[in-house]
Amino acid sequence: MSTGASLLPPRWGVVSQLFHWTCAALVIALGAIGLYMTELSSPVAKIRIYALHKSLGITLLALVVLRLLWRWSRPAPGPVPGMSRHLRLAADGTHGFLYVMMIAMPLSGWLYNSASGYPLQWFRRFNLPALAGKDEQLARLAHALHEYGFWLLLVLVVGHVGAALYHHLFLDDGTLHRMLPWRRRPPPPESLP
Ligand code: HEM
Ligand code: HEM
Repeated sequence: MSTGASLLPPRWGVVSQLFHWTCAALVIALGAIGLYMTELSSPVAKIRIYALHKSLGITLLALVVLRLLWRWSRPAPGPVPGMSRHLRLAADGTHGFLYVMMIAMPLSGWLYNSASGYPLQWFRRFNLPALAGKDEQLARLAHALHEYGFWLLLVLVVGHVGAALYHHLFLDDGTLHRMLPWRRRPPPPESLP
């Protein structure tokens, strides 16, 4: 008799993989640019790099919304074979939290920008509306959420990448290959029964 799990795809499709690696690259770039830009002293460079940070952040927000719609429109791969229920729950919880943070970070940045009274443009193509009027207290709160949110996101990403590498290097259970375009190499003949 076939179980529900056996009907699930064994790996992530190409669209999900593209979403995953594009969002991952954007998150890492946004964190690095964010840390770097606040230390800049040249006002001209600062304006340019802040604009880049904000445009990339809005791009991430749009991509994550599309990614979630795509994710919910089709079945995701079943659990990694051999993974305990507790570990699966921990992995699912971390993934859910990563999605929440990929939405919360751009929103807190956007809110901080609005409450500070700055305009928001996407790559000089179009303006985005303000999420709130100028408000110093709200700006302080949104800034704190953005800054501490980043450190929380960093902890999650380090745990997530560490878990992916642990699966790949120590458990060799094919988890990483589910998210890569190329498949796992078959085992060498001498290890076959
Ligand atoms: C995942 C997305 C994002 C990440 C990981 C991120 C990360 C960061 C980091 C690490 C900083 C430096 C924090 C500090 O030391 O003050 C920062 C600052 C900032 N971010 Fe983001 N950010 C993201 C999205 C956005 C978006 C979408 C906007 C606006 C629309 C934005 C606006 C800002 C602004 C205005 C600052 C400067 C704060 C200051 O001058 O102290 N961010 N961001
Ligand atoms: C080198 C860096 C990274 C590696 C090696 C990696 C690896 C993986 C792997 C192997 C999976 C699939 C797990 C499974 O099939 O059960 C996955 C899923 C996921 N990754 Fe990453 N990842 C990386 C970076 C990131 C970053 C920076 C983020 C976001 C901040 C992220 C967010 C996610 C999310 C949300 C999922 C769950 C997908 C879903 O269930 O819809 N990853 N990652």
